[in-house]
Order: sequence, then structure tokens, then C-alpha cells
Amino acid sequence: MHSPQSWDPERYARNARFVSDLGMPVVELLAPQPGERVLDLGCGDGVLTEKLAALGCDVVGIDGSAAQIEAVRARGIDARVMDGQELTFGPEFDAVFSNAAMHWMRRGEAVVRGVHNALKPGGRFVAEFGGAGCVEVIRSTLIAALDRRGVDGKAADPWYFPTDQEYRQLLEANGFDVSYIALIPRPTPLPGDVGGWLETFAESFISKLPREDRPVFVDEVRETLRPKLCNAAGQWTADYVRLRFNARKTAV
Ligand code: BEZ
Repeated sequence: MHSPQSWDPERYARNARFVSDLGMPVVELLAPQPGERVLDLGCGDGVLTEKLAALGCDVVGIDGSAAQIEAVRARGIDARVMDGQELTFGPEFDAVFSNAAMHWMRRGEAVVRGVHNALKPGGRFVAEFGGAGCVEVIRSTLIAALDRRGVDGKAADPWYFPTDQEYRQLLEANGFDVSYIALIPRPTPLPGDVGGWLETFAESFISKLPREDRPVFVDEVRETLRPKLCNAAGQWTADYVRLRFNARKTAV
């Protein structure tokens, strides 16, 4: 079993501001209208939730991290601690929006069913998250480095990266019409060293090791990745692939 990932809003802002900065295409796909009631599923620190509110939406954010939800509430937004795989809403939303969160929810069908329950008939489900092949170079390096230490690397993997066909089928089997779905390779420049990315996003792997062994593990992973992900000028780029879609609730 993989260990839980924790979220520190300050660390997230330092190493992962690009996640919300790059989220505007999915906001545009949502095309939010003033007065619409919108659920932001896995709202993180609420930067995009706040954008939806500024566009006139009546927005609710949910996230599994109490620390992130506290940061969202500090922005004056209605936000609740809730697992995206166990949504408890009835059909009250015009749209469910999600950016860069659903790859942390391995029970994909539970997410889709909960979203279906939360939407009014005809409501939109518009989201983007990691798709098949996302951070494959980083992921395989982490798994191999744990395996070399006699720790099951695959069992530490917290991520769900489906293909577009797989996810289309999941949506259609659960009462959605899909008007758009695509896998989008998006090599993503990092704000610093890949060590910051690992510290922020790879806790499930790193925490498998005793505390004293972790710095050497991170150094080893960084040096294995350097020739693949860092250019001569020292710029690191992560091998992101996004899965982006626009679906509508059909069945009641
Ligand atoms: C993301 O935030 O988009 C992300 C995080 C971890 C792995 C892959 C993608």
C-alpha cells in the first residue's frame, strides 16, 4: 500500500505554483457563467477556485487536505475537507471542475459516480489531470530506486493515469456524454531543481524509507534524472501528460 501524501500550503506555493498557473485552459473549457453553482473537486490551495468566484460563480471547493482547505477558507471561499472518492453531494451543481487533482484518486469510478450524483441533469463535468505516460521518467526512476533497496516501488505509487479511451469508457458507462477528451503531452519547466518537485509530490515513495536514508535516495533519483530532464543551462522539465475532457450528465 502507498503511504498518504501530505500537503503543506507554503511548500506547495514554493514548488508548485505552476500547477494553477497552467490551469487556465481547463477554466476556458468550463466556460463558467456568472451565477452558476460550481464544485471545484480537489481545489488544492484555491487559486483557481478564487478565479471561478471572481468570474461570478457560486463556488464550493473540496479537498482531502485540511491544511489546504484552511488556506482556501482564508481566501473567503466556501471550502470543505472531503475525499473526492467519497463525495456526499446531491444534484445541486451546474458544473464540476477539477484541475491537477484526480490523478491522486485511484478509485476512478467512485469519483465519476460521486460527480454524477452532485450534478443537476445536464450538468457539466470538466477536468484535467495526469493521463497515461505522465511523469513516466520520474515515476519509473523512483520505482527502480526503491526496488534496488528491497522496497516494492510499484506498491508505493500513488498515481492514477488512465488513457483517453479508458476514461471515455468510464464516463460513458456512468451516465455522461463526452464531447471532448484528449491526452496532451505537456513538458513542464520546473521552478527549480527536481528535488523540490520530489519533496512536494513524491512523498509516497520517499516515506517508504527510514528518515536517515531519504537524502541519499533523493540525490540518487535526481542524478539519474539529470541527463534526461535537465538541459545544459540547468533548466529542469518534467514529462507531464494531461488528460483533459468535457462531459455532460445525461442520465438522472
Ligand atoms: C500534477 O500536479 O499535475 C502532478 C503531480 C504529480 C504527478 C503528476 C502530475
